[in-house]
Amino acid sequence: MAITIERLVKRYGAVEALRGLSLEVRAGEVFGFLGPNGAGKTTTLRILAGLLRPTAGRAWIDGHDVTREPRLARAALTFVPETPHLFEGLTGAEFLAFIGDLYRVPPACQHQRLAELVDQFELSQYLGQAIGRLSHGTRQKLALAAALLPAPPNLLLDEPTVGLDPPAAYALKTLLRRHAAAGGTVFFSTHILELAEGLCDRVAILDHGQLLACGTLGELRCSHGDPTASLEAIFLALTRHERAAPR
Ligand SMILES: Nc1ncnc2c1ncn2[C@@H]1O[C@H](COP(=O)(O)OP(=O)(O)OP(=O)(O)O)[C@@H](O)[C@H]1O
Ligand SMILES: [Mg+2]
Repeated sequence: MAITIERLVKRYGAVEALRGLSLEVRAGEVFGFLGPNGAGKTTTLRILAGLLRPTAGRAWIDGHDVTREPRLARAALTFVPETPHLFEGLTGAEFLAFIGDLYRVPPACQHQRLAELVDQFELSQYLGQAIGRLSHGTRQKLALAAALLPAPPNLLLDEPTVGLDPPAAYALKTLLRRHAAAGGTVFFSTHILELAEGLCDRVAILDHGQLLACGTLGELRCSHGDPTASLEAIFLALTRHERAAPR
């Protein structure tokens, strides 16, 4: 398994954000992580990225425990948070070169991949500008290009399409599918159910820190008892039930 999550619990004081979450994401799949606001998606992603310690439970990235072997686990992933913190004073070109060097991307490879990413995200005109002056969407594109540049086996993305214009969203979808086709893993959260429906091999629906459903759209439809149900209909039915009986 590329990503294994086992009985993860996260408490923030009295708030129990994750209540024994278990989940497995396979190499070569695009996996969508869905759930209402406050479900625990960002918390899970931050634990996997080594930015937050779980209260209990464990998680592994390519077999490396995220708390016991954080360096090895972190070396096998890149994480794009919802609002990336970039180095405001650097230009886009400086930032991408810095990331390439940090992840030790060989120079020839770095040059070729950068050219491709800059082209796909239409970033060339912004590379000479200080990051602090860029629009929200352009910063998001830069953060995604930086995450894709090292071509890590595992890509973790928190609501990656927020703020992207349609060509960039399209480019991102193409790049994520290509990453999975080459054997990589994509694990991303989103509220855009049509995006998940079109892009993901499997999805998980989380609420109140617990898994409500996990599988292919076909499997979810089967459990829902309607072979033509949309992901939106399934999501609403599952989470409505949760809202009616809060824990
Ligand atoms: N630093 C924190 N301190 C206290 N509570 C927190 C903290 N971060 C998150 N929480 C709480 O943990 C729960 C899960 O939050 P999380 O951000 O993981 O949800 P999410 O699924 O990413 O939601 P959204 O769709 O709104 O991004 C929520 O109840 C939230 O209020
Ligand atoms: Mg979130």
